[in-house]
Amino acid sequence: MAQVLFITANPKATEKSTSLSLGEEFLQSYKEARPEDEVIVIDLYKNDIPELDYEFMEVIGRLRAGLSVDHLSEQTKKRFEHYNQLTDQFVNADKYVFVTPMWNLGMPPRVKTYIDTFCVAGKTFRYTEKGVQGMLQNKKCLHIHASGGFHSKDPMNHADPYLRDIMHFIGVEDYRSLVVEGYAALPDKAESIIKEVYDQIPATIEWFV
Ligand SMILES: Cc1cc2nc3c(=O)[nH]c(=O)nc-3n(C[C@H](O)[C@H](O)[C@H](O)COP(=O)(O)O)c2cc1C
Repeated sequence: MAQVLFITANPKATEKSTSLSLGEEFLQSYKEARPEDEVIVIDLYKNDIPELDYEFMEVIGRLRAGLSVDHLSEQTKKRFEHYNQLTDQFVNADKYVFVTPMWNLGMPPRVKTYIDTFCVAGKTFRYTEKGVQGMLQNKKCLHIHASGGFHSKDPMNHADPYLRDIMHFIGVEDYRSLVVEGYAALPDKAESIIKEVYDQIPATIEWFV
């Protein structure tokens, strides 16, 4: 039995979102193909994802220096515990699905906040004499992404290429994406553009299972 994290980052109703609708279709097909797997849904707009703020940097700095964090408030300790739980949850999962829209050439800011919870030295990557080494092995990541315009060949695209780089950075080399793009730029072709990506779901499931 595999554990899948299904991570969404879009403060929209599913039926109003191209990426969430595609993600939902993928998820239902996946559940049919692998009913025994455990799927954990993380909606980054419903879950409280701790941001690396002043308090956090103090906690991290003190722990690294071997200093006590006993004096910190209960609230800070709880937030840090939650941060660690998110890291551990990510490390323990076998597969990841990220569902995102393009926002201003990138992804919604909560995706970055979430990335900061699992890119942790000593847990998902380590520094070696030969450079940085990803520590997550034998995992897969699928990125389901929507953009109204065309960006897949755009050098200013900081959405899918960025997530792929982050995954490679932590060792997740088996990475694919389902990108639906350009349907707002070409409204007359929107239906066929979207259908073309939905048609890729079966082959993507075959790879992902
Ligand atoms: C804040 C914001 C920024 C956006 N920036 C871009 C952009 O840089 N490029 C683009 O092609 N579309 C952009 N869009 C349009 C979205 O990519 C488009 O609406 C897409 O359908 C979003 O996916 P969704 O339907 O799953 O929400 C932006 C939309 C919003 C709300």
